[in-house]
Amino acid sequence: MDALTLLLNRRSASRLTTPAPAGEALQNILTAGMRAPDHGALRPWHFIVMQDEGLIKFSQLLEQAAIVGEMGPEVEEKARHAPFRAPLIITVIAKIVDHPKVPDWEQLVAAGCTVQAMQMAALAQGFGGIWRSGSWTEDPIVKAGLGCAENEKIVGFLYLGTPALKVPSKVQQPDMSDFVSYF
Ligand SMILES: Cc1cc2nc3c(=O)[nH]c(=O)nc-3n(C[C@H](O)[C@H](O)[C@H](O)COP(=O)(O)O)c2cc1C
Repeated sequence: MDALTLLLNRRSASRLTTPAPAGEALQNILTAGMRAPDHGALRPWHFIVMQDEGLIKFSQLLEQAAIVGEMGPEVEEKARHAPFRAPLIITVIAKIVDHPKVPDWEQLVAAGCTVQAMQMAALAQGFGGIWRSGSWTEDPIVKAGLGCAENEKIVGFLYLGTPALKVPSKVQQPDMSDFVSYF
């Protein structure tokens, strides 16, 4: 698929199954993330690849956060199952540093760009994915368990795999004039 066709038609896939990107395909995805635009070449991000045992550990971590947070049995159950909605998750942490020329928000946006780049690299190779976040990104137990310091931010959990259902069709294009002006 050429780049423009991908960018104009891409959809997220929420139900994902095996096979997950592996080997060269996974390396391409991570490399695409590393090629995100990056003011000052700070690389203000860290990627945590979770699969197999990693997904089990992540499930245990989310469940522990739900228990400690006294969120109730329903949330605990949801937490336990959440990581198994895909065979591969890449967690992206924004590692923001004080910099005289590159403010925090630019570093946060750059980390966000890595997620989009990795999702597009997955789609370009025939896989599917969805960028998820949710309240777990702010949970102190989840953050600590993933080695995310207090001043750092989880910008997303990128769920990747093979779409289990037909990927939804192209979205109806909204009226561009609501979003675009020419100066
Ligand atoms: C920062 C961020 C966080 C998101 N978090 C979630 C999420 O937790 N759950 C979810 O279903 N979609 C989430 N989304 C939206 C999906 O990734 C996806 O874009 C949305 O379902 C629309 O589908 P589409 O990409 O096919 O247009 C998030 C998107 C962004 C940019």
